[in-house]
Amino acid sequence: MELVIEKIKQLKGNISVPGDKSISHRSLILGSIARGETRISNFLKSLDCLKTLECMQALGAEIELGEDNSVKIKGNGLYGLQEPKDILDVGNSGTTIRLLAGLLSGQDFYSVLCGDASIRKRPMGRVVEPLRLMGADIWGKKDGQFAPLSIRGNKLKSLYYTLPVASAQVKSALLLAGLYTAGETIIREPLSTRDHTERMLETMQSNIKISPLEIKLTGEKELRGKDIFIPGDISSAAYFIAAAGVLKGSQIIIKQVGVNPTRNGIIEILKKMGTKIDISNYQIKSNEPQADLKIEYSELEGIEIKKEEVPFLIDELPLIAVVASQAQGKTVVSGAKELRVKETDRIKTIVSELKKMGVDIKEREDGFMVEGPCKLEGAVCESYNDHRIAMSLAVAALLAEGKTVIKNSECIDISFPDFEDILQNLIY
Ligand code: S3P
Repeated sequence: MELVIEKIKQLKGNISVPGDKSISHRSLILGSIARGETRISNFLKSLDCLKTLECMQALGAEIELGEDNSVKIKGNGLYGLQEPKDILDVGNSGTTIRLLAGLLSGQDFYSVLCGDASIRKRPMGRVVEPLRLMGADIWGKKDGQFAPLSIRGNKLKSLYYTLPVASAQVKSALLLAGLYTAGETIIREPLSTRDHTERMLETMQSNIKISPLEIKLTGEKELRGKDIFIPGDISSAAYFIAAAGVLKGSQIIIKQVGVNPTRNGIIEILKKMGTKIDISNYQIKSNEPQADLKIEYSELEGIEIKKEEVPFLIDELPLIAVVASQAQGKTVVSGAKELRVKETDRIKTIVSELKKMGVDIKEREDGFMVEGPCKLEGAVCESYNDHRIAMSLAVAALLAEGKTVIKNSECIDISFPDFEDILQNLIY
């Protein structure tokens, strides 16, 4: 499929965005191993989350998906899963494969995890190595560096571990494995990363102690099923926040967006660059903060984004490159090497495609540099089947003279199937 976008004037209107992807994955996994019923509202029905749903069902979880983005799970407790009949297919979803690798390491059965061509190139050693330290029998290609991963679940021992990379997926995999150990698992992080797993484990009454850069979890305690309301995904809202911030005269409101401090880097950075963002109606639901955001266009200035800020906006960095092209002066992103091992090498892919549109952008080993403001021209661009690249290019296309074609745009369904419809509603 191709997405064709022409230059527009401005964005106006009120919207909400679908539920958070990270929290949707976690609600399915934790709901399935909790005891009692979990009712989820505002679940994200995107390809990635549906892969987690199918995997959990293949593991025997009783999950019912409702018409209205609601999900009902009848949890059978920590030891209620069963051996799957076939390979578990995670599609394109890094969160599914890494979190399930942790969960399955503690089950008394055999399972195999695999996914698409992108998944088979992404690093898995980061979960395999610490899981082996916990006693997991887990194998993969190149001594566990790559999928397919095969796991013979085992009695695990607790772990004291400092993550070598700041990754919420690795942290979450180890916490899930830690649920199956009698002792205390302690995980230290080099930098804070998204903490949705910890928050949900707390809500479900696990034995968890959360402090900055350190989580302690004592396992073998049953989790309690809960009602979970999922806030709007800030990573999806980000495309409209950024677009309204760069299109002169724009003013939009986005309701009920998740504003967890480990995810709201996009708001903080855009505010520093000059975008006017008002936050109202702040509330905490299901242990996750949410708020309404009002975004207004304003002139922007380039900014430096450093390593410590990177995890809070890791998925929004390709979009930052687009915003930076409209800001006065240099924007430099460093300490973002992790971008190279996402669905694509996002440093390479965003740099090559934005160059085609006339952006003055340079690749750096651990980030990129943009010198703005740039006049954008429509172009024929590749998404490389990476949803975040496709949607970032769509925002650039709204600004570019003429017509932009984004190839293989169906990948947007991985995280945001309603993207085009919501965008259409805002175009003024
Ligand atoms: C995610 C964590 C991030 C992020 C990904 C989703 C999660 O990955 O890029 O899109 O749900 O835990 P890392 O924490 O591995 O960087």
